[in-house]
Amino acid sequence: SLEKNRTSSTVTVFFEGAVRRKTLALVFVFILQVPVLYYLYTTEFETLYYTIDKQNIPDKPAEAGEEAILPDCPETPPDLQGNIDVSFAHTAPEISKLEADNPLVKDGGHYKPPYCKALCKVAIVIPYRDREEHLRYFLEYMHPTLQRQQLDYAIYVVNQAGTGKFNRAKLMNVGYAESIKDHDFQCFAFHDVDLVLENDKSIYSCPSSPRHLSAGVDKFNYQLPYSAIFGGVTELTKEQFQKVNGYSNSFWGWGGEDDDMFNRVKFSGMNIIRYPMDISRYKMITHQREKGNEPNPKRFDQIRRTKDTMANDGLNTLEYKVVSKQKNKLYTNVTVDIMAPA
Ligand SMILES: *[C@@H]1O[C@H](CO)[C@@H](O)[C@H](O)[C@H]1NC(C)=O
Repeated sequence: SLEKNRTSSTVTVFFEGAVRRKTLALVFVFILQVPVLYYLYTTEFETLYYTIDKQNIPDKPAEAGEEAILPDCPETPPDLQGNIDVSFAHTAPEISKLEADNPLVKDGGHYKPPYCKALCKVAIVIPYRDREEHLRYFLEYMHPTLQRQQLDYAIYVVNQAGTGKFNRAKLMNVGYAESIKDHDFQCFAFHDVDLVLENDKSIYSCPSSPRHLSAGVDKFNYQLPYSAIFGGVTELTKEQFQKVNGYSNSFWGWGGEDDDMFNRVKFSGMNIIRYPMDISRYKMITHQREKGNEPNPKRFDQIRRTKDTMANDGLNTLEYKVVSKQKNKLYTNVTVDIMAPA
C-alpha cells in the first residue's frame, strides 16, 4: 500500500507541474477560438466586408483612406447587360419597394461600388415639378443601371417650388450648385425625368468633351432630330460646365435652353460627342405638357444672342432660395424658389 500511495502522488505531482500549466494553456486557446470561428462561419463574408467598409466612410478624410485600399474599377464594368427591357405599361412601383430593391443606395440617392474605386463621381441632376410617377419609373430603371455601370453617383431632384413659369435650365444650375456642396462630384448628367436609358453600355462616365447622351429616343424613332440637338440627357465635367458658365437662367417656359447650351459649348471652343446610335437609346414616358411650361415665345431671339449673353447669364449670376433639402434614400429632394415670373 505504501508503494501504491507513492505512485499516485508521483502522478499528482507530475500534473501539478509544468505539464498541467501547458495543458491548461492549450485548453484555454482552444476555447478562445470558439467565438472567433463561430463569428466567421455565421457572418457572410460580405457583411464582414461592409463592417470594415463602413468604419472608413463616416467623414471625408476617412473616405479618402477607404478608397486608397480599393482597386480601381475596371474600364469596362463586368455586369453590363446591353439592352434593357424598359416598359411603362405597369404602375410605377412604390418608393418603399424601390428602396428595398436598391439596398446599397442611401443618403440622398448616393451609391458607390463596394469592391472597387469608381472611375468617376457623377451627380445626376433632374429638373422637376410634379412628375411623381415618372420619377418612380426613373428610379426603378436607372438605379440598377447606374450601379451596373460602377459609378460613384447620386441623384438630385431639383423641384421648382410654386406654380410660376418652369425654368429647366435654371433648375439644372441649382442642381449643380447644391450637389457640389455635398460631394466632390467630377461631372454632371443633366437628365429629363421622362427619359429612361435602354442600353447600359451608354455609360455615364466623365466625358472628354460635353456629351449628348439621349441621341436616340423612341419618340423620334431613335434618330437625331437635328445634328445640333443637345437636350434630354447631357453630361459635362465640372471644368466644362464652368467654362460655359453653366446654363442660362433666363429661359422661362418650354424650349430653347438646350440650343443655348449647344451654343455655349461651341463658343467655348468645345465640340459635343455622342455614343454610337445603337447604344444611345432612351424610352420616353409620354405625358401632356403641364401648365406653367408653355413654349417660351422669346426663345428664338434668345438663342440668337448666346454669344453676347453667356458671360453675364449663368452660374455667375445664379440666385435662388432653397425651400428645403431632404436626403431621401433614393434621391435628394432640393425644393427651390427660383423667383419665377407668374
Ligand atoms: C420634395 O419636397 C417638397 C417639400 O417638402 C415636397 O412638397 C415634395 O413633394 C417633394 N418631392 C419629391 C419628389 O419628393
